[in-house]
Amino acid sequence: MPRYEFFDLKPAIPDMAAEVLHGLSLPAKSIPPKYFYDAEGSRLFDVITDLPSYYLTRVETGILRDNRALIARRVGTGGCLVEYGSGSSVKSRLVIEACEPAAYVPVDISRDHLEQSAWAIFDGYPQLAVYPTCADYTTPFELPAPASALPRLAFFPGSSIGNFEPGAASRFLRGVAQVVGSGGWLVLGVDAKKDRAVLDRAYTDAGGITEQFNKNLLANINNAVGADFDLGGFHHQAVYNEGAGRIEMYLVSERDQRVRVAGTEVAFAEGERLHTENSYKFAPDEFVAIAEQSGFECVDILLDDRAYFMVLLLRAHSSSRTGGS
Ligand code: AVI
Repeated sequence: MPRYEFFDLKPAIPDMAAEVLHGLSLPAKSIPPKYFYDAEGSRLFDVITDLPSYYLTRVETGILRDNRALIARRVGTGGCLVEYGSGSSVKSRLVIEACEPAAYVPVDISRDHLEQSAWAIFDGYPQLAVYPTCADYTTPFELPAPASALPRLAFFPGSSIGNFEPGAASRFLRGVAQVVGSGGWLVLGVDAKKDRAVLDRAYTDAGGITEQFNKNLLANINNAVGADFDLGGFHHQAVYNEGAGRIEMYLVSERDQRVRVAGTEVAFAEGERLHTENSYKFAPDEFVAIAEQSGFECVDILLDDRAYFMVLLLRAHSSSRTGGS
């Protein structure tokens, strides 16, 4: 089998203008958080992950580092590691070094980022076959044929599962169970419920980076669909909705204003909120129940000392796995 091959499953490109206009036409205006991640948004998110107040990345990396031996014992070596997202982070490398997979399949909808980070992994691990796969990982997809006979381990770090609405999170987990097949594994990072003050600091940092990240959504819309959002006309707001167990992020209009978006005029009242993201937090038992209703058995819950974050080792109990093409 070749040691590097790019697989393009040609995912449907979302109609950004239509999705944005739909979100802005709702009584409670809203834009999907996937539109944060243009090149500048991805750069700002990387900066966020290094902030002392954004504990998620640091704590999750520590859990993976401390439990490398246990993870390898559970999932075994020589399999196919399927990373949901383009990988290349310190966390991907920890899992690769612990589990010594024969093949690594990072999966992402964004071709350029995927290819760049896949080459970086390829260069770092001479024994590893690397098959970047361009696909929409929110629905099940076929694994590259050269890797399809190997036992499968999926990796979805970062608590990105927390950005899915509850129904979508369950559907996503069922899809992963289908991809890894019966007996396959998922190593999943999930942010835990905790003191409100810690969450507030994580989503409204003193240096204003999260504010820049949030407002960059407007810059992305301006560039990608043709709009004239004034970034100075909005401010960042992140609130912990304890009943719903989630951080809610908004951009709040500073004044009455009109914005042209892809040829349509949209009015904002002073103080009106545009919802940009939910980030769900879970008690360990709560998430285990969701995983167990969505095709997995929970084998281990790995926590840090303060139980700020959890890494779950989940094993798919039954599903028809997707084959290679
Ligand atoms: C990508 N995702 C897990 C981040 C989160 O914490 O929900 C996105 C983010 N939003 C604000 N800061 C970081």
